[in-house]
Amino acid sequence: MSTPVSPVRRVGVVGGGQMGAGIAEVCARAGLDTVVCEDDATAARASRERVATSLERAVQRGKLDRLSAEDALARLVFTGSLDELADRQLVIEAVTENADAKTELFSALDKIVEDPEAVLASNTSAIPIMRLGMATGRADRVVGLHFFNPVPVLPLVEIVSSLHTSAQTLRAVDGFARDTLGKSTVRSQDRAGFVVNALLVPYLLSAIRMAESGYATPADVDTGMELGCAHPMGPLKLADLIGLDTVAAIAESMYEEFKEPLYAPPPLLQRMVQAGLLGRKSGRGFHTYDPG
Ligand code: CAA
Repeated sequence: MSTPVSPVRRVGVVGGGQMGAGIAEVCARAGLDTVVCEDDATAARASRERVATSLERAVQRGKLDRLSAEDALARLVFTGSLDELADRQLVIEAVTENADAKTELFSALDKIVEDPEAVLASNTSAIPIMRLGMATGRADRVVGLHFFNPVPVLPLVEIVSSLHTSAQTLRAVDGFARDTLGKSTVRSQDRAGFVVNALLVPYLLSAIRMAESGYATPADVDTGMELGCAHPMGPLKLADLIGLDTVAAIAESMYEEFKEPLYAPPPLLQRMVQAGLLGRKSGRGFHTYDPG
């Protein structure tokens, strides 16, 4: 078996929301030619705006000079057409956590991405990489590349291998995450939740149950963990940042896989998702947020 094309210079990102925009930003900041594919031209424009805002924030915080921010934005193409990913060496999927939608997308990408050596990666938090790999004719080149939110700030990427992912693919994406993007990596087997969410999600769900039962207010739950354990944000603020729909989707995948009551999404979380109270992105979750 041959080695995946290296070094990667042409990257595609499918999905330009919170995670996809962050992944695209770090790729462009690393000097890569990056194409971001969204559902349509309007969503593609919104994604560009998301990246531009984050780059401006990095400039304002003194993390990036203005010229580098302008260069990064110039390296990004935003499109509503998957066909523009045909010449990519690596495509990172970051659409919403829906197993059917992701499986269909991997099947389509397998046909569109011309280079048979190209790697197809998923930023999924909990959907089996094996399922995505089996939707393609290149399961040895399908891998999990799981980033953390906010992507430009958090240094970790989890590298997830299915039973079919080749050692060459793992080496190539590990090298890409470390040497090109400057991230740190950990390896995980293909189990719902991987390493970080397997530990984080039960903690978030426990905090939600605590607020649900009236044991403590959301503000006190958060203050407890911020001041008592020096966490940068409490668990309910973190759930709001991740998105309550995403937390519920990860919990459901983990519950489906392990049938552990600890992973079952609490009724309050499910009702909040049904109510459209999704956290920061909708302006209200366990806390309320200024749209600005
Ligand atoms: N580019 C580069 N750096 C940036 C930046 C950007 N766009 N935006 C902010 N920063 C930097 C800031 O300059 C600052 O750096 P210094 O500490 O060196 O000064 C740092 O990031 C923190 O930024 P802020 O001061 O603006 O904000 P803050 O101190 O309130 O921190 C936070 C905000 C980074 C979100 C912090 O609260 C945090 O780390 N929270 C925890 C987030 C977390 O746990 N995420 C993981 C979620 S799980 C996940 O994502 C996976 C999943 O599958 C669900």
